[in-house]
Amino acid sequence: MKNLYWAFSLLIVLATSCNPNRPKQSMDDAGLLPIPLKIESEAGGFKLESNLAIQTTGTDQIVNEIAEYLASNIRPATGFIVPVGSNEGAIVLELTSGEESEAYDLVITDSGIKISSTSHAGLFYGSQTLLQLFPIEIENNSLVEMDWILPNGKISDQPEFPYRGAMLDVARHFISVADVKHYIDQMAKFKFNYLHLHLTDDQGWRIEIKSWPQLTTIGASTEVGGGKGGFYTQEEYKEIVAYAASQFITVVPEIDMPGHTNAALAAYGELNPGVNLPDGDNSTVVEGKIDFDILDKNPVPAELYTGIEVGFSTLATNKEKTYQFVEDVIRELVEITPGPYIHIGGDESHVTEKPDYIYFVERVQDLVLQYGKLSLGWDEIATGKLRPGTVAQFWDNEGNARLTKEQGNKLLMSPAKRAYLDMQYDSTTRLGLHWAAYIELDDSYNWDPATYADGINKFDILGVEAPLWTETITNRSDIEYMAFPRLVALGEVAWAPASRRSWESFQKRIAIQGKRWDINQINYYKSPKVTW
Ligand code: ACM
Repeated sequence: MKNLYWAFSLLIVLATSCNPNRPKQSMDDAGLLPIPLKIESEAGGFKLESNLAIQTTGTDQIVNEIAEYLASNIRPATGFIVPVGSNEGAIVLELTSGEESEAYDLVITDSGIKISSTSHAGLFYGSQTLLQLFPIEIENNSLVEMDWILPNGKISDQPEFPYRGAMLDVARHFISVADVKHYIDQMAKFKFNYLHLHLTDDQGWRIEIKSWPQLTTIGASTEVGGGKGGFYTQEEYKEIVAYAASQFITVVPEIDMPGHTNAALAAYGELNPGVNLPDGDNSTVVEGKIDFDILDKNPVPAELYTGIEVGFSTLATNKEKTYQFVEDVIRELVEITPGPYIHIGGDESHVTEKPDYIYFVERVQDLVLQYGKLSLGWDEIATGKLRPGTVAQFWDNEGNARLTKEQGNKLLMSPAKRAYLDMQYDSTTRLGLHWAAYIELDDSYNWDPATYADGINKFDILGVEAPLWTETITNRSDIEYMAFPRLVALGEVAWAPASRRSWESFQKRIAIQGKRWDINQINYYKSPKVTW
C-alpha cells in the first residue's frame, strides 16, 4: 500500500512537472468567435512572464503596428510592459512568403507563441484569436493580479467568404465619429473586414461634398424625429477610413439613389423632378399636370423629412444636371475612399419609372467604373444590366438574386429576415422594427448563405453583411443592444463554413463572450436562448 502511495505521488509530481502550467480552458473551450477552421488542443499551457515581449520578423512597419495593437490589449490587465519588435519575444509574429491569403496559423507550446500568415490581415486575425485565448480578465482596463496562462495547441484558420461586413445607417439618425470608431473596435474582434456606411437617405445627407455645399448645410440639418442631425466633414470621414484600416476594415460609402434622396432634393430643388411640391403650390401645374419646363426654370426644393416612410423620393433621372451632380459626388467620394467599392443604393425607388430607374442605375455604374471603383447596390439593381464587377446586395428579392447570378455577378448576402440588426428580437423589444421578422439570436445564427436563396450557391457569393438601420436607434447603447450578440452570430456565418458551425457550440462560446462584454460594459441583449 505504501509503495502504491509513493508510486502514485511520483506520477503526480511527474505529470505536473511535465505540464506545470494549467490553463483555465483548453483551446476548444476558450470560447473562440468566430470558430476557427481547425483547432488541435494539447495539454498544458504557456505562462506569460512579466518580461513578455512581442517579436516581429524583419523591419515591416505594418507587422510592428499589429504587434503594437496586440501589446496594447495585453498591457492594461497584466501590467506587463510588453515591448514590441525586440529580437527575442515569447510571442512571435511572422509574415511568411507565399501567395497572400487571410489564412493564419497560431501555435502555443510550453515554450512560446507563434502567429504566422502570408498577409498582414492574417497576422491581425491571429492576434484577435490569441486575445480570445487569454483568460477573460484580460478585458480589464486596470491591473489584475493572476497567472496568465494560455492553452497549448495549434489553430489553422481561414475565412469562408472574403467579404464579412457590417453596415451602419448614419442617415436616419446621425452617428458620431466616436461611436463609429467604437463599432469598428467591436467588429475587428470578430474578424469583420468591411464597414458599409449608409451615408445618405431621405432624412439626411451625412458626408461633406465640397462642390454641392447645401447637401450638408441644408440636407444634414435634421434626422428622424427632428433632431439636429449632423454630417462628417471629408477630414472626419478620412479619419474613420484610416481608423478602420488600422484594424483591417475597409469602408464602403453608400450614396443611396435615385430613391431615398429627399435630403438632397431639399438641398437642391433642381435635382427634383417636381413630385414633392409643397401642399397648395399650384404654380407649376398647367391643365392639371405638372409642367416640367416651368419646374426646370423654377426648381422647388423638397421639404426636409423626419418621418420613417420609404419609397416617395427620386432624383430627376431625365436631367443632365442630375448626372453632373452624381459625377461630382462620386469623384469627391472616390478621392477619399481607398477601398474598391462605392455603394450606389438603388433600393425602393418606387416613384421612379422603371425604364428611368434602369437607365439611371446603369449610367451610375459606368460613372463608378470611370472613377476606378466597383459598384455595390441593393438587389433591385439587378433588374438592369449589371456592369462587370458590380455586386448586388441581396436583402429581399430572390428573383433579383438569380438575375445577378445569371449576369455573372456576385452577391453580398444580407437577407432582412436573418441579417438585419434593427429587427426586434421579439415583440417585447423596446427598440427596432419588425417588418421583415422578429430575429432571435438563433435565427441570426442558423442559416447558410450558400443555400439560403433558391439557385444560389457558395460560388455566387462574395460574403455576408449585417445592416443596422437606425429609424429607432439614437445612441451607442442602443446600437450595442441591437448589434450584440447577433452581429457575432453573423460574423461566424460569414467566417466559418456550415460544416464547422453548431448552435450548441455557439451558445457556449457566446456566453463566455458575454462575460467579456460585462467587463467592457457593452450593453448586449441577454438572449433567453443562452445560459449567460
Ligand atoms: C432596404 O432595406 N431597403 C435595403
